[in-house]
Parts: sequence; structure tokens; C-alpha cells
Amino acid sequence: MIHTRQLRKSFGSNQVLHGIDLDVQPGEFVVMLGLSGAGKSTLLRCMNGLARPDSGTLQVGGIDLMARHSRRDLARQAAMVFQHHNLVPRLSVLKNVLTGRLGALPTLPSVFQLFRQADLDLARECLDRVGLSHKVDERTEALSGGQMQRVGIARALAQQPKVILADEPVASLDPKTARTVLQYLRDATRELGIAVVCNLHQVDYAREFGDRIVGLAHGRMVYDGTVEGLTEPALQAIYHPLVHPEPSAKADGRLQTSIIGGLS
Ligand SMILES: Nc1ncnc2c1ncn2[C@@H]1O[C@H](COP(=O)(O)OP(=O)(O)OP(=O)(O)O)[C@@H](O)[C@H]1O
Ligand SMILES: [Mg+2]
Repeated sequence: MIHTRQLRKSFGSNQVLHGIDLDVQPGEFVVMLGLSGAGKSTLLRCMNGLARPDSGTLQVGGIDLMARHSRRDLARQAAMVFQHHNLVPRLSVLKNVLTGRLGALPTLPSVFQLFRQADLDLARECLDRVGLSHKVDERTEALSGGQMQRVGIARALAQQPKVILADEPVASLDPKTARTVLQYLRDATRELGIAVVCNLHQVDYAREFGDRIVGLAHGRMVYDGTVEGLTEPALQAIYHPLVHPEPSAKADGRLQTSIIGGLS
């Protein structure tokens, strides 16, 4: 679903991504950890076409993002879930979810927001998946923060994407609500075979919900492996990295359950 090789990205003289190699399979829930400024959002923004990498290869849902591609085509493959969910507060819950269908409509119906019955059915089904069937007609601004984030997830599901990219989706929620939101996100995407890359700051949530953990430090991948492998040395590599860790050779050429780079 997602394939990157030697992906690099700079902002001026600030090199932010130093050659990222990552493959994410359908239905896999990958949690990305790293200190603030490690490059997590930049990597997600590259995957969603919001930032253009300098070099390397990047494919998302079969689309080559280094070549010319249409935003509409990419929107059919990858949906984004944001920390502040970016919903329209005065619209109903259903209408917010339906905006996830706009990219799938032909141009004229999309301009006039003429949704088909199938779009309405899908939007309702997506709200059901996040436990909000009873809120379809409510104004979105009347919902709690956790419910709004679940609407954001339903909107992403309504795009019928192959990939969901979630950038700190639970950063503004209390722990109980955060867990509920992550559970809905993981269960729905697992059932639908959607690949997820989810940036988080909480190691506990990463352990609880991740199928696999990726750790970034200074724009380099310093860990790629299982939840069980996320031991103290791995956490050191992620959260107390050397200033410029050099990636070590990979014994078998793969990045399974390995700490990559030197430890301080
Ligand atoms: N649009 C931009 N223009 C210039 N520099 C940027 C831009 N976006 C990100 N950066 C820089 O890239 C680096 C990585 O930022 P990024 O937002 O990817 O980090 P992050 O790991 O998501 O951090 P956080 O956990 O705080 O969200 C930082 O040094 C940041 O200042
Ligand atoms: Mg970020």
C-alpha cells in the first residue's frame, strides 16, 4: 500500500527526512513515534501529497507521488485524519462525512454537492462503524471532542481509501476518550483492510494499538519492528538519539524488529 525508498526532504538548508525506507501492507496499523521535530508530520505530508519530497521513491495505493498525479486520484487512495479534525461545525454530522465523498463524484455533481443514494448509505455505514449512527442529523458543533474525532474518522472511511494517514489524532483528548477513538480507528481499518500510519506521542497507546512501530529520530528511521521489540534500547534510540545517528547495516537487508543506528 505504501512504499518509500530513500525518501529525502529538506526545507531550505534544514534536511528533515534523510532517506526513509518504509513498506506498509494492507490492513496494517503502523504507529510512528519520535520526538517533536523528528519529521513525523513531514513524512505523512509527503505521503498525502501535501509536501513534495526532494528525491527517492514514494508510492501510495499504487500512485507514484514523484511523478505527475492528480489530487483527485490521490484522494481516492489516501485519507488524512488530523489532530483538530477540520470539520465544518455548523454542518450536520452526516454532511461532514459526505464531504469525504466529494472527490468520488463527477465534477458537476461535486460542485452542487449532489450526492447519490449510495453515497448517503456509505456515509451512514461509516458513522455506524465509529458508533455514531444516533448522531447523523446533529450539528457537529454539538458533539464532544472525541465524537468529533470519530466523525473525522468516518469522513476518512467514506473516501474508501486504501491508506489512512493520522497525524496525532488523539493529542487533544483525555486518555479514556483517546483509547476509544484509537480503538474505532484500528477496528474499522482492520476490517476494511486499510493501511494506517498514525503519529502518536504516547508510547502506551503505540503498544496497545500498533501492529508495528516505526521510530524516527532526526529524520532517520531508528526503529522498525514489533511492539514486543520496543524495549528500553529502542526507546533510547527514538527518544534520546545521537545528534546525527548513522544508520547501521541491516543484517538481512530487512528492517524487522530492529534498532537502526547507534545508541547513546
Ligand atoms: N513547511 C515547513 N517549512 C519549513 N520547515 C518545516 C516545515 N514543516 C516542517 N518543517 C521543519 O521540519 C522539521 C520536522 O518537522 P515535523 O513537523 O515533521 O516534525 P514532527 O516530528 O511532526 O514534530 P511534532 O511531534 O512536534 O509534531 C522541523 O525542524 C520543522 O521546523
Ligand atoms: Mg507533527
